Amino acid sequence: MARVVVTNRIPAEGLAALRAEHEVIAWEHEECISRAECLELVKGADGILTLLTEKVDAEFLDAAGPQLKVVANVAVGYNNVDVPACEARGVVATNTPRVLTETTADTAFGLMLMVTRRFGEGERVIRSQTPWQWGMFYLLGMGLQGKTVGIVGMGQIGVAMARRAKAFGMSVVYADDYDPPAAALEGLDARKVTLDELLRVSDVVSLHCPYLPSTHHLLSTEQFALMKRTAFVVNSARGPIIDEAALVAALEAGEIAGAGLDVFENEPAVHPGLLSMENVVLLPHLGSATVETRTAMAELAAANCLNVLRGEAPITPVTH
Ligand code: DGY
Repeated sequence: MARVVVTNRIPAEGLAALRAEHEVIAWEHEECISRAECLELVKGADGILTLLTEKVDAEFLDAAGPQLKVVANVAVGYNNVDVPACEARGVVATNTPRVLTETTADTAFGLMLMVTRRFGEGERVIRSQTPWQWGMFYLLGMGLQGKTVGIVGMGQIGVAMARRAKAFGMSVVYADDYDPPAAALEGLDARKVTLDELLRVSDVVSLHCPYLPSTHHLLSTEQFALMKRTAFVVNSARGPIIDEAALVAALEAGEIAGAGLDVFENEPAVHPGLLSMENVVLLPHLGSATVETRTAMAELAAANCLNVLRGEAPITPVTH
């Protein structure tokens, strides 16, 4: 029986799968674990399940000890995991792709609708009991039909966003260093373009790329200047892909029309300039937040951990 540590609360189904085979030590408090508590808890673990709030770096891996075999991150993004540090120690790292694709695309699409149709503003009018009346020109937004969405990062979530956009009568352009499989693009009429062209032609720019050194501040002053003044930006990927100060400046200058954000550069902090802007929709990183999806993420992470501890291949590894 191995020792598995779960560094934050996860759905019971994931814990049950782990407990059926191993001793499980799980953080069970409402609040996230602190760094010091985490380094203490992981000591002696053979397998660890982490959330994106844990930094899995050399210090973390060394605190766990040389017996550690697997770190299963309960997220598709794994910018919190130092992959080379895992590989150097022979630790397998895994993530949770696919199971959250549709839910995260729903979030991106929801943000796009909210910000283009001014639904957040409308809701604030009602909640603040501001007097209002139906009016021909009251809170008019931008219709999506016939518009162009520019998808930055045409992986599984990007493709799922493109399918939704297509169903709403939008044209799709995308920018990516990689080519998605032809089958994924079938029926989308999606055109591959450079990032600069995407920024010039899109009415909504939606980010779906991973956060890497090469995508840090992918959208900054220069990129916002390329966008149409009527265009919106949506980010459901990772906060630091956008230079948040540059975004605030572009919004203040009217260089772009609005933003829908589920993620932030210094999460959970949000740039104060965004808080009072009516043309900005802000969500607290809810991309994959459904009961079904979080359960599936926990189950996949548990399965990855169990496979490695059994000496079998992990299902979705990020280490080589
Ligand atoms: C992920 O899986 O990377 C998401 O951001 C978590 O919701």
